[in-house]
Amino acid sequence: MDLIEIIGGSPLEGEIQISGSKNASLPMMIASLLTKEKVELDNIPNLSDVLILVELMKSLGAEIQFDQSSDLKNKITCTTKEILNTEASYNLVRKMRASFWVLAPLIARHGEAKVSLPGGCAIGTRPIDFYLSILKKMGATLDLKEGYVFASIKSRLKPLDFSLDFPSVGVTHFFLMMSSLADGRSIIKNAAKEPEVIALAEMLIKMGAKIKGHGSDIIIVDGVANLNGTKVSIPPDRIEAGTFAIAVSATGGSISLKGVNPNEINLLTNLLEQSGTKISSDGNRLNIKKDNKIIVPIDISTAPYPGFPTDLQAQFMALMALGNGRSTIKENIFENRFMHVQELARFGAKIKLKADTAIVEGIKEFNSAPVMATDLRASASLIIAALSAKGKSSIRRIYHLDRGFDKIENKLKSCGAKIERKRD
Ligand code: UD1
Repeated sequence: MDLIEIIGGSPLEGEIQISGSKNASLPMMIASLLTKEKVELDNIPNLSDVLILVELMKSLGAEIQFDQSSDLKNKITCTTKEILNTEASYNLVRKMRASFWVLAPLIARHGEAKVSLPGGCAIGTRPIDFYLSILKKMGATLDLKEGYVFASIKSRLKPLDFSLDFPSVGVTHFFLMMSSLADGRSIIKNAAKEPEVIALAEMLIKMGAKIKGHGSDIIIVDGVANLNGTKVSIPPDRIEAGTFAIAVSATGGSISLKGVNPNEINLLTNLLEQSGTKISSDGNRLNIKKDNKIIVPIDISTAPYPGFPTDLQAQFMALMALGNGRSTIKENIFENRFMHVQELARFGAKIKLKADTAIVEGIKEFNSAPVMATDLRASASLIIAALSAKGKSSIRRIYHLDRGFDKIENKLKSCGAKIERKRD
């Protein structure tokens, strides 16, 4: 298995091109299964999650061409003339939770699906009750057995009026795909407002869906009988951009991020400025500069968009562990998203957990250490800690990192980081 070695302690200097968003690519790829026409998606990031989904979609009948023509501008062309297989196997779905969403095009287009219960990062129990409620309310017959959801429907999906207990991103994606092909007007209340939801809705609209209100709490969809093909570009990855912004704030230095939507990470950049980082933006470019060693401690609390993203919590904790005093980090989305705490402790971090809150006592500097990634975003926090620690650190189980960060070591290397991928 691969590991990453980092000799830390030097500032990051340079320019980084931000890749297409992982969390937008996955639902947008799945949405291409909703039509028999050709869908072209460019700016696809090169990630293992994308490759797993390509494999799954091919197994369902999609013809997919994955052009890796230039380094950062991969393109996927997908045509699914017919759904040839309605089973999404455990083998593929267990690797990535989002693949569970293929249930939407399978049932909406083909009336039948057998989809394994999801896997993905072990950051909490991550139930699927909202998905099952939507399926039932839209008229599907459901059976849960042998680790699979069996769903079927004889006619078109019924429209629904649904109120989410929590603005789940995945469930909002699922609703958008299902209701776009339902027989009438559907409404979802307390919908997720994440930029990735907006990107999916905009794509579906280009495919002929009738969607209003995306980006707000209430989304209204008038179902249509068929969707057409389209050509769209995946928006930039705000979590990747945020991760690099936090990394420079921890290591010092100056980097310019290209191809970002600065508005989407406004809250983070405001907090980084309060912590002592200088930030400026110019169109799609975000400049981040940290020229002293003082990191002002900041308390954060994760929340659905536009709140602080849970996907940046681990990275922000690595920064706060080097803060000039105490800070608290409250996790409100996933109950078990603190597995990085014990690994950060190996770098010398002083963090105590009290229920859903981490109390971080900042230290002057990290020591280097061998550590192990526990989940996707946690692995990025370990990279940040290792880049800040003087000496050689190693990070194992980096397959977590490869799920969601496109060529991270090349990008960091181009900014002067001493980082190498090696065989264990
Ligand atoms: C997506 C993102 C993930 C991000 C998360 C929250 C992708 C591929 N993944 O995950 O990176 O961390 O949003 O921003 O886009 N819930 C239920 N019942 C359900 C479904 C969800 O209780 O049926 C709960 C979850 O347990 C969790 C909360 O809702 O506590 C939010 O999860 P959700 O927004 O659904 O996360 P994902 O879509 O899985």
